[in-house]
Amino acid sequence: MTSIVEHVHAGPANGLAARLSRLLADWLPRQRWYGGKGARIDAEGVRVLARLDLLPGRDPGLSMVVVEVRPEGRDPERYQLFLGTRRELPGPLAHAELGPVPDGHGAEWHCYDALHDPELAGWLLDRLTAGDVLGPLRFHLLPGRRIVDGLRSLVLTGEQSNTSVIYGDKLIAKFLRRAVSGVNPDLELSLALADSGSRNIPQPVGWIDLALELEELEVPAHRRDSGGPDENGRPQAHRGSGDYGGPEPITVATVSEFLPTATDGWLLAQTSVRDLYAHPPGTSPKAAGGDFGPEAKRLGRATARVHHDLATMLPTGRMEPEEMERVAQGMIRHLHQAAVRVRELEPYVPALGEVLLRLGRIDKPIPTQRVHGDFHLGQVMRTVTGWVLLDFEGEPSRSLEERRAMAPAVKDVAGMARSFDYAAHHLGGDPEAAQQWADRNFHSFCKGYAAVSGHDPREQEILLRCYEIDKAVYEAVYEAANRPTWLHIPLAAIKRLVEGKL
Ligand SMILES: Nc1ncnc2c1ncn2[C@@H]1O[C@H](COP(=O)(O)OP(=O)(O)O)[C@@H](O)[C@H]1O
Ligand SMILES: [Mg+2]
Repeated sequence: MTSIVEHVHAGPANGLAARLSRLLADWLPRQRWYGGKGARIDAEGVRVLARLDLLPGRDPGLSMVVVEVRPEGRDPERYQLFLGTRRELPGPLAHAELGPVPDGHGAEWHCYDALHDPELAGWLLDRLTAGDVLGPLRFHLLPGRRIVDGLRSLVLTGEQSNTSVIYGDKLIAKFLRRAVSGVNPDLELSLALADSGSRNIPQPVGWIDLALELEELEVPAHRRDSGGPDENGRPQAHRGSGDYGGPEPITVATVSEFLPTATDGWLLAQTSVRDLYAHPPGTSPKAAGGDFGPEAKRLGRATARVHHDLATMLPTGRMEPEEMERVAQGMIRHLHQAAVRVRELEPYVPALGEVLLRLGRIDKPIPTQRVHGDFHLGQVMRTVTGWVLLDFEGEPSRSLEERRAMAPAVKDVAGMARSFDYAAHHLGGDPEAAQQWADRNFHSFCKGYAAVSGHDPREQEILLRCYEIDKAVYEAVYEAANRPTWLHIPLAAIKRLVEGKL
């Protein structure tokens, strides 16, 4: 490793690391993307594992730090941060400040989140343009991609688990806040889809990674055991991961083309539902205007195309009946755990268990492949030419191994079925009209899917229903903890899923 990397052991011997730990203990819990919500951390609970001084002796200075956080009563987590330092902090950066840090010569500088500083965010993009390697920090520009100079950066608001920076309406860089070594599924799938010539994703431009060997994170055994439904995946390497001997690098950021004219699928769907509610009950969706049916059909086509391309470019497999049995048991375990936390689920447990057990009785092998994994209307965008799919990272709460596992493609279809259900019901209008909207659009989606793939996903009824149930159970736990006024949405779906004929 070169001299720019410093492995830091926080303690009184290292004033900077000790100060950073204190500042981060206060600042991290206030960030939207911070995972350990609600749990307190003290200064001893933040350990700076490594620091890269990227602009030594400069104002502004830039360093990258990897920190380990141990919130009280929670599993440890690692975060990666770009931190800026300036002697004087301009007003527009005040909101991004962590606090003062010693400069080593008796003075104090302002330390802040560097992604908000156009000068530093621009410097990072310039490194990508040049394909630089700064010690363990590597900037990979894909062959044939060009980046125009001088793009002005802006941090996108409203993000959840990451921070995206838009560069002049041309590029979007998603800076991943969690430091996880291993293949990043979003990057892996986007590269594979770009190689297949897919037009249903924003084109990837490059990525940044960190080839740094850190001691293994101690995660309690129960978290490592995938235990979930997708246990048949195998790891495999993505491009660019074969050129170093050590551990898999940590993906720091992915950069792709920004689609300035695109509209979020969730927003489009909501507009359609609002149009329906603005008319008297019984008005047909066509007459109410804002009909989403044709869009849902196009989205089904795009989804089937992406599934096809993923199956062509990446490994595929099949689930034998014994594995289906294991998947069913995993879902049943998940249901029981959920019912302990959400008592409203209890009355449905026996009947849901019955439905889930049917998975184990499917006697034909089921084809599996890499899938989106966290598919819903907020992960798709409509551009002037068609639908694109975003964010192939999988469900954020799951382990990397689970997020990279193969699954039946219908798992994504189930995700979209749940999303239509949410879009229809969360505005609180007439439940019957809402249900018709959801059914109609899911029907169109499946028709579109079938037109490309040759088979309607609803033919795999048991599989589809079980994935929908598993998702709705997960949603019930989420809503009970975070948005109790929405708990009725997954509960009503569970009731329908249990009562519907098979
Ligand atoms: N290539 C893009 N062009 C335009 N907007 C984008 C692009 N990628 C992401 N976005 C916007 O950013 C939001 C979050 O992106 P996403 O990749 O799903 O990140 P997250 O992990 O935060 O969910 C999207 O819902 C979309 O509004
Ligand atoms: Mg997303």
